[in-house]
Amino acid sequence: MQTHEIIRRFTDHFVAAGHTRVPSASLILDDPNLLFVNAGMVQFKPYFLGDVPAPYPRATSIQKCVRTGDIDEVGRTTRHNTFFQMAGNFSFGDYFKAGAIEHAWNLVTGDQASGGFGFDPDRIWVTVYETDDEAIALWKRIAGLPDERIQRRDGKDNYWDMGVPGPGGPCSEIYYDRGPEHGKDGGPVVDEDRYLEIWNLVFMQDERGELSPKLGHPPVGTLPSKNIDTGMGVERVAYLLQGVANVYETDLVRPVIARAEAFSGRRYGANPEDDTRFRVIADHARSGVMIIGDGVTPSNEGRGYVLRRLLRRIVRSARLLGVTEPVLRAFAEVVRDEMAPTYPELQTEFERISAVVEAEEEAFLSTLTAGSRIFDTAVAETKSSGALILPGDRAFQLHDTYGFPIDLTLEMAAEQGLEVDQDRFTALMQEQRTRAKADAASRKVGHGDASIYRAVLDTHGTTSFLGYTELATEGSIVGLMKDGQPVPAAAEGSSVEVVLDRTPFYAEAGGQQADTGELRSDSFTVRVDDVQSPVAGLRVHRGVVTNGTATVDSSVVAEVDVARRAAISRAHTGTHLVHAGVRGALGTSAAQAGSLNAPGRLRFDFTSPGGAVSPTALAEIESEVNTVLQQNREIETYETSMDEARRRGAMMLFGEKYGDRVRVVDMGDYSRELCGGTHVGRTGELGLVKVLSEGSIGSGVRRVEALVGLDAFDHMSKEHLLVSQLAEQLKARPEELPERVNGLVEKLRDAEREIEKHRADAVLASAGTLADRAEDLDGTALVAVEAPPGLGGNDLRSLASDVRGRLGSKPGVVALFSSDDAGKVAFVVATTAGARDKGLAAGKLIPTFAQAVGGRGGGKPDLAQGGGTEPAGVPAAIQALREAVRA
Ligand code: SER
Repeated sequence: MQTHEIIRRFTDHFVAAGHTRVPSASLILDDPNLLFVNAGMVQFKPYFLGDVPAPYPRATSIQKCVRTGDIDEVGRTTRHNTFFQMAGNFSFGDYFKAGAIEHAWNLVTGDQASGGFGFDPDRIWVTVYETDDEAIALWKRIAGLPDERIQRRDGKDNYWDMGVPGPGGPCSEIYYDRGPEHGKDGGPVVDEDRYLEIWNLVFMQDERGELSPKLGHPPVGTLPSKNIDTGMGVERVAYLLQGVANVYETDLVRPVIARAEAFSGRRYGANPEDDTRFRVIADHARSGVMIIGDGVTPSNEGRGYVLRRLLRRIVRSARLLGVTEPVLRAFAEVVRDEMAPTYPELQTEFERISAVVEAEEEAFLSTLTAGSRIFDTAVAETKSSGALILPGDRAFQLHDTYGFPIDLTLEMAAEQGLEVDQDRFTALMQEQRTRAKADAASRKVGHGDASIYRAVLDTHGTTSFLGYTELATEGSIVGLMKDGQPVPAAAEGSSVEVVLDRTPFYAEAGGQQADTGELRSDSFTVRVDDVQSPVAGLRVHRGVVTNGTATVDSSVVAEVDVARRAAISRAHTGTHLVHAGVRGALGTSAAQAGSLNAPGRLRFDFTSPGGAVSPTALAEIESEVNTVLQQNREIETYETSMDEARRRGAMMLFGEKYGDRVRVVDMGDYSRELCGGTHVGRTGELGLVKVLSEGSIGSGVRRVEALVGLDAFDHMSKEHLLVSQLAEQLKARPEELPERVNGLVEKLRDAEREIEKHRADAVLASAGTLADRAEDLDGTALVAVEAPPGLGGNDLRSLASDVRGRLGSKPGVVALFSSDDAGKVAFVVATTAGARDKGLAAGKLIPTFAQAVGGRGGGKPDLAQGGGTEPAGVPAAIQALREAVRA
């Protein structure tokens, strides 16, 4: 049974049983605890917790999931995968254990002819949480399972939570017995390879705190209702139903391997080492493409870093299979073709996806070249010191700076007959991780504190946001925190966090900076410096009590700094316009990769397959955007369903957070984007958008920075003033400035040449004077003097030859010294033919005095030169030379 058919049957089964079909959420949900969505329930978390009422009592989804905990294991075994799809059914306070068991049993064992998967009921085993007698009874009653095929397990295996505070509950897992040829008898408690888990039914009823009930810690609370969350591994069911040995051989994964076979000319299954590489490619190509599809670009931290590792491991594995040409686009194409029937965005976003992988591959290939040089040096050093172990520091440097996976270093070292000090490498990696954790903890929203916010949310519900239309509203303080702890009151001078029941303050999100302003009551004022949303639905004002004592339950007037908000809104509108302009000019592969909307200025990052945007294209985008301002188009915002927004072609990237109602912002027909931010009413309010710069921020991502409104005007007006001043100074019209400056630069260059010539002439002119100062040493004329300072070797040589010429053919030696400001001294010795006849060779004379100026030198009998570092020693050097000539 093909994977798409499995998905179809799952969905049909649950839709027929009254479930609403919900599309997969983006892999990137706004949950500070998760790098990637790793289970079907993630998008429903607020419904389980009761933060938001569930819009339907039952739902079903096929969720794309990424788990990156053990990337290094992928490929070495056939069991590990970073990408998989989880098919799930969910009940929000509707059916519970009995319903979940019945629905799952019917689908798993249902006849294939009537829509089921047709697994043999006699080969199904289940596990239940150790004390869950109720589940055992249900498995017997509903499925008719005998006692021996129901096994109890403790929390480690049969309690499920997200690994962080949130919903959880005991679970019951369904296993399929692959037969005695795959392992020992005795059920899943004995062998999880032979008995393969296909489906996990979670009876979601608890709220877990910092410590997990998996390890026996009691839950911190009970959820408002009893829920069901199930997850069936689509790929696992596929490989069982397709009768193949593992996930890698299923219909959607094998084609990637086939592509790698075609590239390399090698065969999957022929050699275990190659097989590992084939599997790395197949798995990572799938996760990489899906992650990029949801808007992540490679970088050196967080999700971007995981993505970078995945892509680089593919390229590296291909290399190890003997492929040197670029491969990523080709693999991405295979993934697209296999996966697009379920995830159509892979088709529509493909140009962007392939641009990202191509840029990353190119960057990595040049990294490989640079890193290989470092590697070669390290190998040479190691070998020349007689060691056989490459230092761990070098392996770490290669990893950290050049992105070399350790296995690459290991393999390259092995080719050179070397080992790698892996202990040191691991220790350095550990240090780095500790640093990274400390960084994360010091960020604004650590998940340690989320429980206090959650407590406020549980008691008082979500904060109503009124700030789309109001900038000053009344509200009451429902939560007051100081030093991360709830307090009843906070005195003047305290730094506080304040939660209101309703607020006009915008919390930082989607690149838009938070509002600032004031919360005022009759008896106190809080200055608001920042607003964040540490848990979905809650807005936390951060600031300082500037007078009086703030108390919980007080009524306040919450007033946003209007001018600042207006400037931010203008910037945000500006960002949408620049986004539309960039897309118009560069095509849809230029997709937003991040943005900042601050008062009066904006930053917009986007993927650009074509590299830099030319100055002409940039100027055109800028001019087009300003034209849209002048057209004064109306900006409309409205809520609609995700499907409708998609149908209308709204630009979107990071799958909208929770629920499927989305907010759309239209600017006439010029721009349509999903957005939760604030905007102005008409484009004309921006007045002016001035693009300042465009540049690369790495990996095919470009950044445009621009000013908006008066800030743009001020900037231009300053530049205008500057230009006027220059024009005035240069007595030129502004448009003549470039030519005039060019002219000046050229004139300057000529003048410098002229000066240089005069200087050289002056130096040579001193030759006569120097020759006149010759002293007679037993019939040899010696000119040994300090020439003008700052002469280099060339000047000294021509001066010395000139002086020598003036000495004629009688024995003569010329030695000239010239020191410079940097404490260096240059010297030249020249001899006449007469001197040479007497055995005085220039090259031989140098060692007689060089030491006195802390230097050395040498040359031929007629001319030699050198340099030293002690100008003060020149008189002593001259004295030494005299003696040498005399002797
Ligand atoms: N949340 C559970 C899991 O991930 C069931 O969907 O296994």
